[in-house]
Amino acid sequence: MGSLCFDEQKNNILVTGGAGFIGTHTVVQLLNEGFGVTVIDNFDNSVEEAVVRVRGLVGDQLSKKLDFHLGDLRNKDDLEKLFSKNKFDAVIHFAGLKAVGESVANPRRYFDNNLVGTINLYEVMAKYGCKKMVFSSSATVYGQPEKIPCVEDFSLKAMNPYGRTKLFLEEIARDIQKAEPDWRIILLRYFNPVGAHESGKLGEDPKGIPNNLMPYIQQVAVDRLPELNVYGHDYPTKDGSAVRDYIHVMDLADGHIAALRKLFTTENIGCTAYNLGTGRGTSVLEMVAAFEKASGKKIPIKLCPRRPGDATAVYASTEKAEKELGWKAKYGIEEMCRDQWKWASTNPYGYESKP
Ligand code: NAD
Ligand code: UFG
Repeated sequence: MGSLCFDEQKNNILVTGGAGFIGTHTVVQLLNEGFGVTVIDNFDNSVEEAVVRVRGLVGDQLSKKLDFHLGDLRNKDDLEKLFSKNKFDAVIHFAGLKAVGESVANPRRYFDNNLVGTINLYEVMAKYGCKKMVFSSSATVYGQPEKIPCVEDFSLKAMNPYGRTKLFLEEIARDIQKAEPDWRIILLRYFNPVGAHESGKLGEDPKGIPNNLMPYIQQVAVDRLPELNVYGHDYPTKDGSAVRDYIHVMDLADGHIAALRKLFTTENIGCTAYNLGTGRGTSVLEMVAAFEKASGKKIPIKLCPRRPGDATAVYASTEKAEKELGWKAKYGIEEMCRDQWKWASTNPYGYESKP
């Protein structure tokens, strides 16, 4: 019965990439639920202040249940050190690089970091008998979907080297679980994570010029950038701009708790993929309007040609996650924009003070 036990107060979770955007929000929720949490991160795309903020948010008592290790998944010794000193009941694996454009320019960096890092992790987990994994996959594995909403059993396709790492890592997970059936693996396909912790203390803090829509809008709102380029205004959508399924990062965080619960309580979960989205599509122009409303700021826009490789409309079928994980997104775009504006207006330069 031991392996079927789900007791938050006793379970110890390793969170790779726990200093990053989705990682920090998930760690807060894990600690609030009573889990013990160990984070490993190399601060490639994050800063120590984010971990300090997590501690501040959960308070002194729960903070004692959070252990942070500076380490790199590409370095197996860093993982060996962690696993030889701790017993982990499961791993949530966020650590990875995620910038599509950078992956096209420098695919080796993506294959090295995302593939080698994850393969090391599986090896060390197997060696120490920890065989429960929640993996950060992405809606990018649906490529340019022929039909929407995207359903988990659709055929998969990579559109760029970043997407290829996610697709390969899904396949690797399926192969490992097939060969060694005692693994339990959940692949979570995130749609477009946005928003911030409702306190305004945690949020997304990209380095350099943001690639993604919401961090870009946010930087226009705080006068760090002059205007938003809207990529594509001739799509066959309601207003000509592209449609995505934006999901509040706190809903996403809760989705990981639901996935853990499923892993701990379902012996025959195998290797299973779930979409984490809201099931609702919102256009770029609708998102701009919602952010203007939440912030009271005008976001100047420039209508530009389509961005190569972008799909017209992508949104999730949420049925499987609702039915099997008992999880459903609670927040809409109003709350996403409200919380992201709270984060942006109180931290216009992210975790660092103005350079
Ligand atoms: P993020 O960059 O904010 O967080 C990733 C964290 O992993 C960072 O703190 C980084 O320093 C760390 N990291 C990277 N490589 C590492 C390594 N080799 N060793 C140790 N730490 C390492 O990104 P995020 O938005 O929080 O995304 C988390 C995961 O979710 C990623 O795997 C990403 O591909 C996936 N994902 C993100 C999105 C999105 O739009 N944010 C969408 C779909 C999937
Ligand atoms: N967009 C703009 N201007 C910008 C940035 C984006 O108009 O400055 C548009 C894009 O063209 C797209 C929409 O806003 O139509 C959303 O773009 P994002 O870059 O925010 O998100 P994507 O849907 O392109 O992709 C994101 C991640 C991928 C991930 C995917 C699904 O970047 O890695 O969500 O999770 F795979």
